[in-house]
Amino acid sequence: MVEVAVIGAGMTKFGERWDASLRDLCTEAGVSALEDANVSGEQIDALFVGSMSAGRFIGQEHVGALVADYVGLGGDLHVPATRVEAACASGGLAFRQAVAAVASGMSDIVIAAGVEKMTDVGDATDVLAGAADREWESFAGATFPGLYAMIACDYMNKYGLTREELAQVAVKNHYHGARNPYAHFQNEISQSTVMNSTMVASPLRLFDCSPVSDGAAAVVVCSLEKAREFTDTPITVLASAQAGDTIALHDRPDFSTMGATVAAGRKAFAQAKIEHKDVDFVEVHDCFTIAELCAIEDLGFVPKGTAGKFTAEGETQIGGKLPVNTSGGLKACGHPVGATGIKQVWEVVQQLRGEAGRRQVDGAEIGMTQNVGGTGATVVSHIFRRAC
Ligand code: COA
Repeated sequence: MVEVAVIGAGMTKFGERWDASLRDLCTEAGVSALEDANVSGEQIDALFVGSMSAGRFIGQEHVGALVADYVGLGGDLHVPATRVEAACASGGLAFRQAVAAVASGMSDIVIAAGVEKMTDVGDATDVLAGAADREWESFAGATFPGLYAMIACDYMNKYGLTREELAQVAVKNHYHGARNPYAHFQNEISQSTVMNSTMVASPLRLFDCSPVSDGAAAVVVCSLEKAREFTDTPITVLASAQAGDTIALHDRPDFSTMGATVAAGRKAFAQAKIEHKDVDFVEVHDCFTIAELCAIEDLGFVPKGTAGKFTAEGETQIGGKLPVNTSGGLKACGHPVGATGIKQVWEVVQQLRGEAGRRQVDGAEIGMTQNVGGTGATVVSHIFRRAC
């Protein structure tokens, strides 16, 4: 297989973007990624766009073609554009399709983008619930905050996680988000802000939840061999892994362990031929605070049941043993669902280039991502290294 590298990355500010439509967001992120990669539209062979539910959020389907058109790849250039959907893992999976297209030799230079315009719709909770098992979960009233609350209850009962430890995930991610000019929330918060915020689904409160956001992100990939024609700092894709699980949470043997994260993580480490201690930072899918704790355990960074203590001791903050979600994560950077997986790659690129400013992880060489669809029915994981 051809070795693949990321040569450009762009994103919009995430948040309540009343000033921009879905096509505006895509254009902004796509053009910024192309400019960053120093490539022109004529050089692009294919486009993959992650979008979870543009049809229900804004009534727009055929999003691949729309994005290609507005980024300037449709009309005259006739670039093939494909929409990829895997709920909140749509972006990560779009990136994986782009990597596969280059690795197989089928395409030379490919854009992977992700977008969601969520704030225009009245009932985002119901749209999101479509990523769960509609017949057995959503129809019975189990929304995503409700499902992750069940995971949190199970985890707390099994491992004795305290409410204070759980709150520290949000405190840390807001600390990181306050250092990211593209984040939805750029304010630091205290533990008491989390503990006293509105109850959403017990034990999860408002500040345990990722927000409903608008935003887009895009990256450009090509072969590592070609990458140096465009940039002095290509970012090599060491591993691209995907795994699946039951769509419904109640069919899992253990609510507190995301089997697809375990499987995708194992595959990713095997492909990359590295060990956990080699990873300098990780971007994981903290759609709710509990999900971040499960993720770093299920990827194998810390033993099961210990991530709360590890977080409370400051080890997941920049400067700690394993900085987690330096972008601010889904909690503070925001979660425009189709865009999140691409934003994770964008953050890895900033870190590995040494361009992450006030949230830079010193000497970062290897970064990892984990992007989840639903409660873990799809998980996509990638590992990256700064090319020498
Ligand atoms: N964290 C912190 N503050 C938040 C927030 C969050 N997650 N979500 C909203 N807010 C703030 C808003 O900025 C607003 O503040 P303001 O009054 O100072 O302007 C206030 O809370 C009310 O915002 P609103 O949009 O009315 O919130 P809401 O009650 O409609 O929604 C949630 C709050 C938590 C229910 C919603 O964000 C949610 O459903 N999140 C989860 C999304 C999800 O499931 N994603 C998929 C995961 S798999």
